[in-house]
Amino acid sequence: MCGIVGYLGRREAVPIVIEGLKRLEYRGYDSAGVALFSDGAIDVVKRVGKVSTLEEALRARGLKATIGIGHTRWATHGAPSEINAHPHLDCRSDIAVIHNGVLENYSSLKKRLLENGHRFVSETDTEVVAHLIEGLYTTGTSLDQAVRLALQQVRGTYGLVVMSRREPDRLIAARRGSPLVLGYADDGYFIASDASALIQHTRKVTYLEDGELAIISRNGIITKTLDDVEVRKAVEEVTFELEQIERGGYDHFMLKEIHEQPETIRNAMRGRLLVEQGEVKLGGLDHVRKKFVQARRIILLGCGTSWHAGLAGEYMLEQIAKIPTEVEYASEFRYRNPVITPDDVVFAISQSGETADTLAALREAKARGATVLGIVNVVGSTIARETEGGVYIHAGPEIGVASTKAFTAQLTVLAMVTLMVARWRNVVGVDQKLLARELASLPEKVARVLSRYDLIKRIAEEFKDGRNFLYLGRGANFPVALEGALKLKEISYIHAEGYPAAEMKHGPIALIDEHMPVVFIVPKDAIYEKVISNIEEVRARRGRIIAIANEDDDQIHKLAEFVIPVPRTYGFFGPIVNVVPLQLLAYSIAVARGTNVDQPRNLAKSVTVE
Ligand code: G6P
Repeated sequence: MCGIVGYLGRREAVPIVIEGLKRLEYRGYDSAGVALFSDGAIDVVKRVGKVSTLEEALRARGLKATIGIGHTRWATHGAPSEINAHPHLDCRSDIAVIHNGVLENYSSLKKRLLENGHRFVSETDTEVVAHLIEGLYTTGTSLDQAVRLALQQVRGTYGLVVMSRREPDRLIAARRGSPLVLGYADDGYFIASDASALIQHTRKVTYLEDGELAIISRNGIITKTLDDVEVRKAVEEVTFELEQIERGGYDHFMLKEIHEQPETIRNAMRGRLLVEQGEVKLGGLDHVRKKFVQARRIILLGCGTSWHAGLAGEYMLEQIAKIPTEVEYASEFRYRNPVITPDDVVFAISQSGETADTLAALREAKARGATVLGIVNVVGSTIARETEGGVYIHAGPEIGVASTKAFTAQLTVLAMVTLMVARWRNVVGVDQKLLARELASLPEKVARVLSRYDLIKRIAEEFKDGRNFLYLGRGANFPVALEGALKLKEISYIHAEGYPAAEMKHGPIALIDEHMPVVFIVPKDAIYEKVISNIEEVRARRGRIIAIANEDDDQIHKLAEFVIPVPRTYGFFGPIVNVVPLQLLAYSIAVARGTNVDQPRNLAKSVTVE
């Protein structure tokens, strides 16, 4: 959801900013731009499209500077165009602003600024900030004061960086709602939307909090609150490696991340799942054990794939730990005046830890007295910091916009939470040792699914021109059907729907003809025969069946046109294995159609606006 990079130091700014923007491109990629200070003026270069297009334009201009800011955009206000791309300038081209977020009152501010004679060139909310600062940046006022005063007038969310011709050795950054991280190196200072843009240069970072402002100069960085009180911040070490955010020989990040899953599932369990003892230890939840024991229910909040993880988690928590569990779209939860009491335990599930809807929902739950916890991937992210505790999924950086390894790691964590809660609440009849062994066997089972990649590619070739897909599953595999359909929609732009298999006859069955591929998730479990009946119903209408079925299922080959075999897995943990062929199928179809797999149109990895 827009990527921001800034550099000030002794080195050439252009390569640093461009390299950083490329690493942040997953956050938005409809246009990009930079502002550079050199020879007493601010030069702005913008291009529609990818950062590489901007890079070419910069190469042609041969600009040199040791201070620069850059932005890659995901449009909210105003279509993707050169004019709407950031940075935005004031009337005199003295002030350049890059911004991530949404300014809710921008139209009233813009009206007033226009009345006062300011000239606007773009349709963006961001340009308002440049003009507001211009009006307040009078003689005797410093840039940081002017930024502070301007921000007092705006309502909404922002992570922003400001550069001025009058104070060329400074960058001012401020945050409310959109993440910003500061980086410290011997030869300069950095600012970015996330640490992946910096780690090539430094591992020393501090995270700006909401309501804070940073003054970055050649002598160091000063952080203050927006009320001008200095804040001393601890410098933290970033621990992930550069290789983790590079493609490592794979054609796409998504393919790499799908293949990492045996390892990421293992990482999620490492040191936490004690197989021999049949125990789980999650340090981030120990201090709220009593809350779990007394809890009336658990509420799982999330968006997109993380919401699907919540749905699959609900089956585990209710069926194994016997605790009532609700799963809510974070975006709905926050606006529907939910009934929440201090007896509720709420988990916000989020890969990025920055999703605006999820963050707002958890704040809502917190304000109503619930215990709020996180299941998050990005260490130090806002959700991780605003929750009372939680569990990191340790999947490593996920760059492909369509989430894959984060989903299976979220499910692995939810499975461990389930085992721990079952023990804490003394639920009878749970064979903890057996379930722990089942969990421990998942990485190897996922690896077995990955070995079917060639088969899946062949199936993809067969169906790549499909216009619609149905995905059907029952019980814990219903969320898998939803996730399989979402993956296909996201990256191949084929319309797909996930449905509970038995619900098909109440509507979607009308869609079935010889052109409709129907993907069934049909493991040999207690409802296997029921799903087989659903398959027969599709066959009778000449639908084309692709089955995700167990390796030892002989019957299925007579019913399905294609079968992707998956190892047998304990029912409620099945989604962790069964989703993997669907990730590969969506990926292979997208590749066969020639779409941009890692950066699909209109999407962003981390949605920091409502
Ligand atoms: C965006 C992404 C999805 C993701 C969702 C929730 O829509 O494109 O892939 O599932 O946000 O993101 P989160 O970071 O909160 O898990």
